[in-house]
Amino acid sequence: MTPLRTPRFIQRHVADTAADRREIESGLMQQPAHAAPKYFYDRLGSHLFEAITELPEYYPTRTEAAIFASHGAAMARRIGSGATLIDLGAGNCAKAIRLFPLLEPSRYVAVDISVDFLHDALKRVQREHPALDVVGLGQDFSATLDLDDDLIGTRGVFFYPGSSIGNFTPGDALAFLKRVRSQAQGGGLLIGVDLVKPGAILQAAYDDALGVTAAFNLNLLRQLNRLIGSDFAPADWQHVGLWNESASRVEMHLEARRDLTVRWSGSQREFRAGERIHTENSCKYTVENFATMLQDAGFEAPEHWTDERGWFGVFWAPAG
Ligand code: AVJ
Repeated sequence: MTPLRTPRFIQRHVADTAADRREIESGLMQQPAHAAPKYFYDRLGSHLFEAITELPEYYPTRTEAAIFASHGAAMARRIGSGATLIDLGAGNCAKAIRLFPLLEPSRYVAVDISVDFLHDALKRVQREHPALDVVGLGQDFSATLDLDDDLIGTRGVFFYPGSSIGNFTPGDALAFLKRVRSQAQGGGLLIGVDLVKPGAILQAAYDDALGVTAAFNLNLLRQLNRLIGSDFAPADWQHVGLWNESASRVEMHLEARRDLTVRWSGSQREFRAGERIHTENSCKYTVENFATMLQDAGFEAPEHWTDERGWFGVFWAPAG
């Protein structure tokens, strides 16, 4: 009888609340003010994002899932089996788990900022895939991506679904893709990217009729209050989601409904009615632009699969 495997957990990221505070405070003092989208995802924020993925207007999640369902086997033929599958921003690991029967990885490395988020999911993965080598890695991969060579093994297949790459500016996205490329020898990158489409569709996806995206955006204020002790009142702020065509990105902002002052320990900021805090960019690419970016990052010519409307793309970029 083979001994039962258990997942390994490696925590590399150390939370630095003082640095987070400095970053938040300096963002709030800038003109215009901004806050980083990573602060959306407390417990409530993560639930609100899950609710967003169920909205009729928010097409990316279900469109990407349909692309994997239709073309997963073709992807797997290109990618090959027996690799180390490295899941960036794994969360509940659901998207990767659906690929296991196709990709048949020998090792699964789930990366998220904290292994605490991965614990339950990876125990379930291990139970259902007793032969798989399961590793949870707590790392802030948007800032640092350094996996040990022996963790990657001979072939690392990086998996970055959901169009999370859209939160990076194009310059930062390129730098990130180069870091992935430098660790993907023999393997490559499988990545989901939201594509440019008519503005009304993009706008609706980020400003839905039920106001779930508004709640998701406004919840950031509660997080800021918790993290820096500020006194933001969500009722004083209004959600703005807009398609900025020249920058090829959806932007989310929080707009002050009246003149007001926000206070926190030893500091304050006045906002005029209509003044905004920029909370998120969600960059959209064309197939051509994104394929070029992957090659600029050092990958070989990618293959891609889309839905019949051409709204979302999944790219396989071999590292060569
Ligand atoms: C999780 C970054 C892919 O940009 O579409 C959804 C976040 N923001 N609705 C996106 C989000 C507003 C989402 N990503």
